[in-house]
Amino acid sequence: MRVPIIAGNWKMNTTVSEAVELVNEMRQGLDEIDNVDKVICPPFISLAAVRELIKGSSVKLGAQNIYFEEKGAYTGEIAPLMLAELCEYVIIGHSERRQYFNETGEIINRKVQAALKAGLKPILCIGERLEENEAGRTEEVISQQLKASTTRKYYQSGLIIAYEPVWAIGTGMAATGKQVNKTIGFIRQIIYQKCCTRVAQETRILYGGSVTADNIAEFISQPEIDGALVGGASLKADQFLSIVKQTSEIGGLKEGASSS
Ligand code: PGA
Repeated sequence: MRVPIIAGNWKMNTTVSEAVELVNEMRQGLDEIDNVDKVICPPFISLAAVRELIKGSSVKLGAQNIYFEEKGAYTGEIAPLMLAELCEYVIIGHSERRQYFNETGEIINRKVQAALKAGLKPILCIGERLEENEAGRTEEVISQQLKASTTRKYYQSGLIIAYEPVWAIGTGMAATGKQVNKTIGFIRQIIYQKCCTRVAQETRILYGGSVTADNIAEFISQPEIDGALVGGASLKADQFLSIVKQTSEIGGLKEGASSS
């Protein structure tokens, strides 16, 4: 059985004091919602402050990036063990990292490996661009991305996947629940082929891309979709709370359908 996850990716938004304010607005409401893993991912510099605020609550903390080396002369980078002391989750391979910071499948693979080694729960992002989608290459692109950035061991260690079609991120142009369900079913099939039925059924696969309080129900009611990675709407306390609440009410615990 898979517990849904709603993760808020704040991206490069909020100063430390703004982050504190936002967490204060939603902490209690989030804490009261069951049957969903609630994760917030503020910028690195706010992790310590937010950690203090959510202490003792059921809200979990995540980072938005990581470096794969353990320590040393890597100016500006953050090592796995530095994060492990502060948070539980880490987003890896977001399309913005791939696009603006030239992260390749190989780099992402090393980051996932380093995160797992440090005891973090990686949320690996994959997804096709608009032109690839229009050319009918979605499944091919996703297979390539998974091949480059994962090994069987990662799935066995609890890797979380976020399927985020690049054309749906920050555009207000979300995919449809049906489309996403089909693609996530395909991803689960790949995990099944790489590992086994149990791991495929246990792996949580989220959707991301223009998720709001108005469309979350469409996604979460699909059998393959185990939650969402939310960008813009995670910066508004009422929106994020509503997304988590609806997920708790509709989502429930899911058992893999397509991989058995
Ligand atoms: P969005 O971002 O919800 O603003 O589209 C999602 C993401 O990039 O994870």
